[in-house]
Amino acid sequence: MNVVLGVSGGIAAYKACELLRLFSESGHQVRVVPTASALHFVGEATWSALSGNPVSTEVWESVHEVPHVRIGQHADLLVVAPATADLLAKAAHGLADDLLTNTLLTARCPVVFAPAMHTEMWEHPATQENVATLRRRGAVVIEPAVGRLTGADTGKGRFPDPSAVFELCRRVLARGADAGAADLAGRRVVVSAGGTREPLDPVRFLGNISSGRQGYALAGVAAARGARVTLVAANTELPDPAGVDVVRVGTALELREAVLAAAEGADAVVMAAAVADFRPAEFAPVKIKKVDGVEPAPVALVRNPDVLAELSAHRSVPGQIVVGFAAETDNALRHGREKITRKGCDLLVVNEVGPDRAFGSANNEAVVIAADGAEVPVPYGPKAQLADTLWDLVAARLG
Ligand code: CTP
Repeated sequence: MNVVLGVSGGIAAYKACELLRLFSESGHQVRVVPTASALHFVGEATWSALSGNPVSTEVWESVHEVPHVRIGQHADLLVVAPATADLLAKAAHGLADDLLTNTLLTARCPVVFAPAMHTEMWEHPATQENVATLRRRGAVVIEPAVGRLTGADTGKGRFPDPSAVFELCRRVLARGADAGAADLAGRRVVVSAGGTREPLDPVRFLGNISSGRQGYALAGVAAARGARVTLVAANTELPDPAGVDVVRVGTALELREAVLAAAEGADAVVMAAAVADFRPAEFAPVKIKKVDGVEPAPVALVRNPDVLAELSAHRSVPGQIVVGFAAETDNALRHGREKITRKGCDLLVVNEVGPDRAFGSANNEAVVIAADGAEVPVPYGPKAQLADTLWDLVAARLG
């Protein structure tokens, strides 16, 4: 595939070198189009050597090849990384005073912006309005990560991990221009992932074997399709997907609080997390010791609130779509049909637990049951494939 990597003048330009490597190493042809300011951070020789292609910043070079039109026309994906506040402003207003901004006007492929700047610049109403304009036009504008910025300060505005940006771009490329790459643009969604842990004492808990991979795939795919995503992650060790706000939780009660807060005003909530149905009735503040000759005391349990049922019964906005998961070990469809009625959600992803599907696996196979009785089988495949099908069903319901 032909990838155009636009680089604007921010310190994160050095991270774009890694992004460029990831594209080239996976067989893509990359044409780097830096702005003149970007070359203050990483020089032309680096871009040229890493991409194996000539590099220019202005429309006045190789004019006979009409580069300002040709580069954009031949691109399958245009990714601007990092995108500065200035570049976003120019793109939003259609300015075209160098090769990159001209290319942005001629490209008809999916466009991804990976902004990186100081928090104040990101939060400024001018930048936010420009971002909203670009998203409205179908571009994917990745939310910057939170963390250490150029100086000693910390906040939102950091360039995400290059491999996470690459993963998002790979998903955008896989969907292609025809699929409407950013069909969830303007939508805000919440996904829960992982498994809750219910503490018994300071070193022990009741937990489950959920890895969080299905929820992370759902969050990553939604971001690649342009949604604003909050991922409520319970005890996972996976890398943060690019452009996703991650809220970390431990217990079912913490998860409930985080999900209900994030669900306020959201277009869709997907409960992929394995939430413990019970928690120990009592938490021992010091480690429970074994005593020779004394039988251990049974663990008394109490019910946890059912977050999915609560979300379904009290939608924070009319038309909010609520999705549940049901991992079953037997009679999956029968249990699923009963569960969607009991929980009151719009869609329920039913999967049978097995050695190479559902929990912990990279793959999954499921049937998505809808409240109106429709049943959509999702064939065995990567969890991102199930995520795409599920977002198709959610998008159709959102209209
Ligand atoms: N769920 C939830 N809150 C809970 C338990 C589960 O929100 N306390 C959600 C899960 O995130 C999942 C769905 O409910 O989306 C189904 O969970 P599951 O444990 O299969 O359902 P249960 O109602 O607990 O049914 P079962 O009797 O099969 O355990």
